Amino acid sequence: MNLIAIRRRIWRPIYAKTQPIIKSFRRWRISKFSQSETEAEQSERFRVLGLDWRESRKGVENLLGKDLDIFSHRSEHYELLFGISKRDKPKKILEIGTATGEFSVFLATIFPDAKVHTIDLSRLDNRFWNATSDLVTTNDWAVSKTDLEERDARLSSFSNIEFRELNSLALTFQESEKYDLIWVDGDHTYPVVSVDIANALRLLEVGGTLVADDIYEVAQRRRESGNQESYETLVQFQKAGFIHFNLVLKRLFPEPYYNRRSQKFIAVATRKNN
Ligand SMILES: C[S@@+](CC[C@H](N)C(=O)[O-])C[C@H]1O[C@@H](n2cnc3c(N)ncnc32)[C@H](O)[C@@H]1O
Repeated sequence: MNLIAIRRRIWRPIYAKTQPIIKSFRRWRISKFSQSETEAEQSERFRVLGLDWRESRKGVENLLGKDLDIFSHRSEHYELLFGISKRDKPKKILEIGTATGEFSVFLATIFPDAKVHTIDLSRLDNRFWNATSDLVTTNDWAVSKTDLEERDARLSSFSNIEFRELNSLALTFQESEKYDLIWVDGDHTYPVVSVDIANALRLLEVGGTLVADDIYEVAQRRRESGNQESYETLVQFQKAGFIHFNLVLKRLFPEPYYNRRSQKFIAVATRKNN
């Protein structure tokens, strides 16, 4: 018997006994989740930022309809940016990570007077269309020609969107143009995400807003899309007096492995005068 077979023999009965316990613990944890309390918490987090969550939710639903698919990509970044569109009037916006372009189009719609610059990796890059480069080991994630044609058509139907195939790391050397609002949503893993945040802060006007996706406050055992380093990077910039930041909840329902400690956030930072 080889090593793998021996391991399987040992682990299978242990796994069979522990799985039901783990599952019922997970069910118990989810049963403690309260939708109304979570919405109240989100409203308060928005209020601290001078935003109205209920109005933002209504605004997003008017534009896109209700989101009934709990696995959809649509998260609270839609409500957050909608809320910001009611508070601020940015002239120039940068999105790091275009993907399908749906969110770029959303930004161009809610900020009709702004120029939206959006960048993504080259279509030939094997990490293209994925936010977690360290999880890409096969070509399973391959994007079809139709996906790309749809994305390009979507982006070109808005005259206030400018798309470039550009690795965000190139921002370090190529860019000096300033923005009023930057949405950091490219590679969510370390170190790229920390470089993206640092570059975004360099390119942000004083008083401008940086929004960064998939922030965890605590170390995660399960590594999904996002990590603790984004949070720690923001904390260091805050300590150095460059920014002040707050967090809003990323989703208002329990994700598959829900646990208050593994709650994901979206960060909103204001660039201070220094
Ligand atoms: C989560 S998706 C972006 C989703 C989109 N911003 C939205 O709000 O729906 C992440 C995107 O970042 C892109 N990306 C990953 N690393 C990047 C890098 N170094 N530079 C630019 N884009 C990158 C991926 O190709 C992918 O399309």
